[in-house]
Amino acid sequence: MRRLAIKYHISHYQFDVLLLACMVSLLFFSITQVSDVVAEEPDRSIEVQHGAYLARVGNCMGCHTTKGGQPFAGGRRLSTSFGIFVTPNITSDKETGIGLWNQQDFWQALHQGKSSDGRSLYPAFPYTEYTKVTRQDANAIFAYLQSIPPISQSNPPNDIFFPYNLKPLLAIWRILYFKEGVYEPDQSRSDAWNRGAYLVQGLGHCNACHTTRNMLGASQDDTLAGGQIMGMNWYAPSLSSYQEAGSGDWAIEEIVELLTTGITKRAVASGPMATVIKQSLQYLSQEDINGMAIYLKSFTENEGGNTPGVRFLVMSGSLQKHLDFGGQLYEKHCQTCHGSDGKGVPGIYPALADNRSVMMSSPLNPIRSVLNGGYPPTTAGNPRPYGMPPFQQILRNEEVALVVSYIRNAWGNRSSLVTAVDVDRSKGRN
Ligand code: HEC
Ligand code: HEC
Ligand code: HEC
Repeated sequence: MRRLAIKYHISHYQFDVLLLACMVSLLFFSITQVSDVVAEEPDRSIEVQHGAYLARVGNCMGCHTTKGGQPFAGGRRLSTSFGIFVTPNITSDKETGIGLWNQQDFWQALHQGKSSDGRSLYPAFPYTEYTKVTRQDANAIFAYLQSIPPISQSNPPNDIFFPYNLKPLLAIWRILYFKEGVYEPDQSRSDAWNRGAYLVQGLGHCNACHTTRNMLGASQDDTLAGGQIMGMNWYAPSLSSYQEAGSGDWAIEEIVELLTTGITKRAVASGPMATVIKQSLQYLSQEDINGMAIYLKSFTENEGGNTPGVRFLVMSGSLQKHLDFGGQLYEKHCQTCHGSDGKGVPGIYPALADNRSVMMSSPLNPIRSVLNGGYPPTTAGNPRPYGMPPFQQILRNEEVALVVSYIRNAWGNRSSLVTAVDVDRSKGRN
C-alpha cells in the first residue's frame, strides 16, 4: 500500500487523508444505500395499495375470477354473439399467469390491447376504454397484480365462432374502431369533472355496457348513449338523455348515493349494474365518486328539466280493460312490497311510480326484473338488501305483459304497452 502511494508520488499524509476520505464516502454510500432501501419500501407499498384501489375501479377481478374461484386466476366464460371468451390468469404465476411480464408488457396490454407476445387481444377485454389510463396508474395496477400470490391455473382457450376467429378480421377491427390514447383533460372544466371523466371513460369502462354496438361489436360512440348489452338480455340506459338515465336534474349527493349504495328514493340498481356497484363503485373514494357524479350530471345539466319522450297512450275502453287486468295482477302479486300507490318503501322496496327505469322506451329491464326478481347490490350503505322473488314460474308471458304494461301506466306513469312477444324475447340469456 505504502509502496503504491510512493509510486504515485503521494505523501504518507496525503495517502492517509485519501484513505480516510474513501472510508467516509464508503460509509456515507452504504448509509444512503440503506436509507434508499428503507425509503423505497414504503413507496412500493403505497404504489401497491394504490394499484389495488385502481384494480377495484377497473373491476379487473369481476371478469378475471370465476364464481367461487381464486381471485384474478381467470377462467370466467363471457358469452357474446361472437363466441365464448375465457378470461386469462393474471396472477403472478410464472407459467399460467403473467409472472414473467414486465411493466412494459403490461402497459402494452392495457394501453394497446396486445399480449406480451404481440398477439392482438379481443376487445372483450375493455382495452378500448382502459387505453385512457395513465402510465403511472397502469404501473400501480401491475405492481399490485405482481404482489398477490401466484395461482397456478391454466384456463381453456377462447371458443370464438367463424369468421370472428380469423386473425385479419381483428386487425381490421382495430384499425376501424380502436383509438389508442391516454385521457386528455379538458382545461375548460374543473379538476373534479376531469377526474370523473377520466374514471368513467377509462378504468370504470362504463361505455363497455352503456352503448349501442354495431354488427362487429364496436361501440357507436363514447357518449354513454345506451344500448342493449352484448350477450345479455339487459338494456343499459343512456346516461346522456333525460328520457333514460340522465341525471341532470339530480343532486350530486343522490347520484353518489345511487352509485355507492345501489338504491335511492327514485331508483334502484338491478342486474349487471347491481354487480358493478357491488364489486367496484361502492369502494370508490368520496372524491372519485363525487367526480363521477359531477361528470355524469354534466351531460344533461343544461337540458332544463325532464322532457318526456313519446309516452302518450290514448285511453280507449279496451285499453282501460287491458290495464285493469294488469292492475288486478299487481294487487295480488306486487302490492305488498311496491305499495298500492306504487311508492314502495324508501331504502327497501323501490318506488315504481315516477321511476325512469320502469318507463324507459325499451321495456326489457322491467320485464327482466319481473321474470328474474333480484337483489339490489350488497353495499356498506345497504348491507342486507331486501330482494324481489322471480315470477317466471308464477306468471304466464301474457300476464307478465299485462302487469308490466300496468306499472308503466299507473300513478301518472306513461309509457308504451308490452306484449307477450316482448316477454318471450327477453327470456333466454342472462
Ligand atoms: C369485461 C371483462 C374484463 C374486464 C373488466 C377486465 N378484463 Fe382483462 N381480459 C378480459 C378478456 C376476455 C381477456 C382475453 C382477451 C383475448 O383473449 O384476446 C383479457 C385479457 C387481459 C390481459 C392479457 C393477458 C394475456 O395473457 O395476454 C391482461 C393483462 C388483463 N386482461 C388485465 C386486466 C386488468 C388489469 C383489468 C382491470 C383494469 C382487466 N383485465 C379487466 C376480460 C376483462
Ligand atoms: C356490465 C355492464 C355495465 C357497466 C360496466 C356499467 N353499467 Fe350502468 N347499468 C347497466 C345496466 C344493465 C343498467 C340498467 C339496470 C338498472 O337500472 O340498474 C345500468 C344502469 C345505470 C344507471 C341508472 C340506474 C337507475 O336505475 O336509474 C346509472 C346511473 C349507471 N348505470 C351508471 C354507470 C356508471 C357510472 C358506470 C361506470 C362506472 C356503469 N354504469 C357501468 C350496466 C352496466
Ligand atoms: C317481496 C317484495 C317484492 C315483490 C312481491 C315484488 N317486488 Fe319488485 N322489487 C322488489 C325489490 C327489492 C326490487 C329491487 C330489485 C333489484 O334491485 O334487482 C324490486 C324491483 C322491481 C323493479 C325494477 C325497478 C327498477 O328501478 O329497476 C320492477 C319493475 C318491479 N320490481 C316490479 C314488480 C312487479 C310488477 C311485481 C309483481 C309482479 C313485483 N315487483 C313484486 C321487491 C318486490
